[in-house]
Amino acid sequence: SSITRFPLIPVRGVPLMNYIANNWDNIWAFCPDPSDLLIATYPKAGTTWTQEIVDLLLHNGDAEACKRAPTPVRSPFLEIVSPPPIPSGLDRLEKMDPPRVIKTHLPFQLVPPGFWENKCKVIYVARNAKDNLVSYYYFDLMNQSQPEPGPFGGYIHKFMQGELSWGSWYDHVKGYWLEREKRNILYLFYEDMKENPRREVERIMKYLDLSVSDEVVSQIVELTSFKNMKENPMANYSCIPSPVFDKSISPFMRKGEVGDWKNHFTAEQSKLFDEDYEKQMKDVDIPFRTLI
Ligand code: PPS
Repeated sequence: SSITRFPLIPVRGVPLMNYIANNWDNIWAFCPDPSDLLIATYPKAGTTWTQEIVDLLLHNGDAEACKRAPTPVRSPFLEIVSPPPIPSGLDRLEKMDPPRVIKTHLPFQLVPPGFWENKCKVIYVARNAKDNLVSYYYFDLMNQSQPEPGPFGGYIHKFMQGELSWGSWYDHVKGYWLEREKRNILYLFYEDMKENPRREVERIMKYLDLSVSDEVVSQIVELTSFKNMKENPMANYSCIPSPVFDKSISPFMRKGEVGDWKNHFTAEQSKLFDEDYEKQMKDVDIPFRTLI
């Protein structure tokens, strides 16, 4: 069977898959419970990893409990509308009792206002722009419902101009950054998680007002290593069948490293990207450590 690569339709200037745009009023009206947690990211910034850490923290490191279902069932993707019979994020959420762990890729200004009215906790994960771009490129190649990425050079331009699904990376990381204090958002970096996963797991634990033993923290760090998640069928997206995810092109758990962009950008592309990056990011001081 063939899969349609969905066209993008702007919602308040942000390009979204047509199914999401067409369901926008329902998404915007979604009202969470105050106990619900939102995990927000630009696509491919470390969402699945963070979802797994949170689920394990909520289950005191119980690996079997966290294999009860695949990631998108345990922690629904708020705005996603999948081809039937796969339920939409909203359908899944409706059938679950709070507290729920909800994933979104929506930029700050498109997060349904109920999350702020109910003072929900929000974890944001940011990943350095170039690695985020490379990861998204492979995802767009393999995910047959995302727009065709085209050649890598052209993809870089689309990224810089905010033309990819879910819009501009720059607006995304800035939007949450500027609101993090006012909204009590825990703002994490993929690179920090790679550098010292234990420290970041503990930060998440404290933010969620949980307390698990040092031993359980170690266990969670181990269970959420790239290698272990890649082999975990409940965390590696093997539940999404071909042809939607064409795993002969790329696995969902692709590389899980910092700095893979160096294997993809030419020196010229990198220079052009850096010049544009400086312009787009000059108004904020987000401590990304690794553009370089
Ligand atoms: S999605 O589709 O937006 O939910 O994707 P997301 O989970 O945000 O990002 C996928 C990238 O994260 C990598 N990943 C990990 N890296 C390190 N450790 C762990 N445990 C881990 N789990 C997922 C995944 O491999 C994708 O990055 P790339 O660079 O493509 O490998």
